Amino acid sequence: MTDRKAQTVSGEQMEEQRLYMEQVRHLPDRPRTFHVVTYGCQMNAHDSEYMAGMLKEMGMEEAADREEADFVIFNTCCVRDNAERRALGNVNWLRQVQKKNPRLKIAVCGCMVQQPGMAEKILKQYRFIDLAFGTANLYRMPEMLYRALTEDHAVVEVDQKDVVPEDMPVQRLRQDAAYITIMYGCDNFCSYCVVPYVRGRERSRDMDAILREAEALQKGGVKEIMLLGQNVNSYGKGLEEGATFAKLLHRLDDMGIERIRFMTSHPKDLSDELIEAMGSCKHVLPQFHLPVQSGNDEILKQMNRHYDRAHYLDRLNKLRATVPGIGITTDIIVAFPGETEEQFQDTLSLVEQVEYDSAFTFVYSPRSGTRAAKMDCQIPPEVASERIQRLIALQEAHQRHAMERFLNTREEVLVEGLSRRSETAVSGKGRHGLSVTLEGSGEDVGQIIPVQITEIKNNTLIGQRLTDA
Ligand code: 5AD
Ligand code: SF4
Repeated sequence: MTDRKAQTVSGEQMEEQRLYMEQVRHLPDRPRTFHVVTYGCQMNAHDSEYMAGMLKEMGMEEAADREEADFVIFNTCCVRDNAERRALGNVNWLRQVQKKNPRLKIAVCGCMVQQPGMAEKILKQYRFIDLAFGTANLYRMPEMLYRALTEDHAVVEVDQKDVVPEDMPVQRLRQDAAYITIMYGCDNFCSYCVVPYVRGRERSRDMDAILREAEALQKGGVKEIMLLGQNVNSYGKGLEEGATFAKLLHRLDDMGIERIRFMTSHPKDLSDELIEAMGSCKHVLPQFHLPVQSGNDEILKQMNRHYDRAHYLDRLNKLRATVPGIGITTDIIVAFPGETEEQFQDTLSLVEQVEYDSAFTFVYSPRSGTRAAKMDCQIPPEVASERIQRLIALQEAHQRHAMERFLNTREEVLVEGLSRRSETAVSGKGRHGLSVTLEGSGEDVGQIIPVQITEIKNNTLIGQRLTDA
C-alpha cells in the first residue's frame, strides 16, 4: 500500500494556493461575481461549498443567478446519463450567453470531467470553456484560475491523484448543519457504477483532522453534522490500526454534537461493531441509508455487490433490533442488463418486506467503461419504464404505512426553512430522517423543536409543538 500521509495536501501546498488566491484578487480584469451550478450527490454539494469559499477569498461575490455572474462553474455528475446530459445542455446554453458577454468565464468540474477522453473533448469541441478540472484537482483551483485568467488558452487538469485535501477555505450553505467529508473515492467497482473510475481509490482522512473540523463547527453553533463518503463503513482503510467508522462515531458522540448523520453505507461492510455504535451513541441519529440495488441474488451477483438478499435482511433486522423505530432508506436500480420479470419481482417483494421510509429508484443507465455496459441483454426502455412505475407505486403505498408508526409519537425537528405550502408553517427533519411540517416562522430556522406527530398529509408528517423545550 502507498503511504497515505504522502497523499494529504495541506501546509505548504495549501499556502501556495493561498498565494494564488491573493494574485487573482489583485488581477484588474478578474471576474467580480460567481455562480456555482451543482449536479449530483452531497459530495458535489460540499465540493461546491469549497469552491465558493476559495472564490470569496479571491474577492468575488456570489451571484444569485448564473445569468448575473461573470464566472460560472458547473460542478457535474456522471453517475447516470440524464445528469450528464443536463449538464452538457446547460454548458452549451451558456455559450450563447458568453457570445453576448465575452467577459464571461466558464468552468466545468466534477465527475463528468474525469471520464476518459473528456479532457480532450473539452479542448477540441467545447473551446469556449476556460477551465476544467477533476474532483481530486479541486484544491488547485486558485492556481488554475490564475492561469486561465492570465494565459490565452483553456486550462484543463484531470490527472487523478488520490489526494486528501485539508484546510481549504469553505463557504457553507447552512449555519446549523454541515457536511464533513471523512473518506474519498471507492474501491467496490459495482459493475454498473462509474464512481471508482472518476473518483479514484478509497482514502480516508485522518481521524484527528475530522475531529478538529467537527469541534470547530460545534463551537461555531452547528447542531448537525453529516459525515460524507461513498462507503463510510470502510472508513479507516490505510490509516493506523483500529481507526474504524464505529470508533469515529464514538469519538464524535463523546464531543456532544447534537446530531450526527452519515451517508452512504455498503451492506457488505456493515459490521456488528457499527450496529453496536448505532445503539450506544446517543447523538447518532436513528436513521440509516442502506442501498440494496436489487432484491434478487443473481442480479446482486452480476452487480458485483458481494452480498445476497439474506445477508442484507440480516443486517437490517439487526439494526432494527438494536435501534427500534430506526428510519431506513435505500437506493434501487431497475432493469439491470438481463433482469427478468421474475428477478424484478424479487425487488418488489423485498420492498414489500422491508417497508422503507423512502427509496431512491433509478432506471439502469449504461456508463461507458463499466462492466455492465458491455453485458448482453440490455433491457428495452419501455420495459424499464414500466418496471420503475410499478416499483414507485408500491414504494409509495408502503411509505405511507411506514410513516404511520410515528403517529402520536414525539419527534425533534431541526427546522430547515419556511414551508413551501404555507406562510405560517416551517419544515425540517426529525431524528429518524423524515420531513416534518409544523406551525412556525423564520425565527425557528436552525432551531431544534420538539413536536408531537398528529397526522400525515401529502407524505409529510405534521407535528404540533410541545412546550417542554
Ligand atoms: N444506473 C442507474 N443507477 C445508478 N446508480 C449508480 N450507477 C447507476 C447506473 N449506472 C445509483 C445507485 C447508487 C446511486 C447513488 O445511484 O443506486 O446507489
Ligand atoms: Fe458506485 Fe458501488 Fe462504489 Fe457505491 S459502492 S460508489 S454504487 S461502486
